[in-house]
Amino acid sequence: MLRVQHPIVFDDEQEEIFSNDESFISACEKRIQKPPNNDSRMALFFSALLELKKKDSRIHDLLSLVRLRRGELNDSVTESHLCILFMRVVQYIKLYKEEVYENVNYADMLLTKDAWRDVIEDILANKYSLLFKLLTERKVSTNIPDRYAGIALILKILCPNKELNILDLGCSFHQGGKKMIQVSEGKDIFHTIIKPSLKKIIGNNHNKPLLIKQIVGIDKSSSQSKDELEWLLACSHYPGNVHQIRQTRARIEILPNAKTPIINTTFQRLAEYFKENEFDIIVFSSVLYQLTKAQRIRTINLVSKLLKDDGIIFIQDTAHKKGDALGFDDDVGIPFSYRLFITGKLTNGSLWELLQFDSNRCAMVKEGKDLSKILSQKKSIADILSHMFKDKIANKFRFSNP
Ligand SMILES: C[S@@+](CC[C@H](N)C(=O)[O-])C[C@H]1O[C@@H](n2cnc3c(N)ncnc32)[C@H](O)[C@@H]1O
Repeated sequence: MLRVQHPIVFDDEQEEIFSNDESFISACEKRIQKPPNNDSRMALFFSALLELKKKDSRIHDLLSLVRLRRGELNDSVTESHLCILFMRVVQYIKLYKEEVYENVNYADMLLTKDAWRDVIEDILANKYSLLFKLLTERKVSTNIPDRYAGIALILKILCPNKELNILDLGCSFHQGGKKMIQVSEGKDIFHTIIKPSLKKIIGNNHNKPLLIKQIVGIDKSSSQSKDELEWLLACSHYPGNVHQIRQTRARIEILPNAKTPIINTTFQRLAEYFKENEFDIIVFSSVLYQLTKAQRIRTINLVSKLLKDDGIIFIQDTAHKKGDALGFDDDVGIPFSYRLFITGKLTNGSLWELLQFDSNRCAMVKEGKDLSKILSQKKSIADILSHMFKDKIANKFRFSNP
């Protein structure tokens, strides 16, 4: 049988036009203008980092060495990822590598650019090798279960009667997969974790079945170690909400279960674990932005082989569709720039943008440009949309497909 290919085209002009340094500066500048989560301390951090980078060659040299070392390790990352990784590494050191363990008050007094500059300078002077090691070995590892609510919803709409074998690439601690299993078992419909607009849409569909055989999670880092949990906690909060770390820690489910196995490996080695045509659904949630264009193409080619002929690839990221190409953006602070796309036989190999979220924390949702395409295929979605428009929060935003 002729296999359906999924050659996702990537629109990464920036990667090709700008030097690494220019891309790094541009990624920081975007976060200064529109800080993620509207967190003013994030903007101050990046302002301090850029100011230091201009006048202190140590930052420039450090970044060059990190890029070189990551290249040698075959683990290069995008400049956008390197920029946010820098912030996460500093936060991790402040939280877990100083005298007070898990010092959730560390950012309370960091209210100026100068205060953040002092923090960075102190780390450069006193913890340079730790900084270098973390910047070369780590990837940002957040794990936000709410991100999987939209995926669960679309699966309920597209394949309510099919038992699904799902592969979640870059699952981190697999909290999203575990939440989806609870949904499939009727135990939880994201009610506890989602805000009204998404809750309404899901609530409206909760009678539809979601049948899941298993969700296999893949991640290069292990979810079993204390160190990785600390890294996850440092990455999952902004300086402004770092006080919530203890509640997050208490919510994290460490142990995998039979339906949510985790394999700790890199995407490059997937073929060693699976045979062709094994999965109905493949998910990349907040993962592809970390990979360079060459790594993305290699990874998509690899996973396409594991996907069944009628399978669907889900991609969720701060990204846009340009024609049929997928481009990754640095506009993490701009509302509704975090989006859910699908591709596969159903879309005839095109990329469909189904949902848009207020941020990568996925508290609010509105329909994506191509949601109407599944509307025309599945009549049942009409009642979801009508509910969406009735919803007060959703109505704050304009909809193009009433
Ligand atoms: C930002 S987290 C996203 C976690 C989860 N999917 C979510 O949406 O909440 C990205 C994860 O992808 C993993 N990752 C990135 N590149 C990888 C690779 N080449 N092989 C395996 N895991 C990778 C990282 O270790 C990290 O845990």
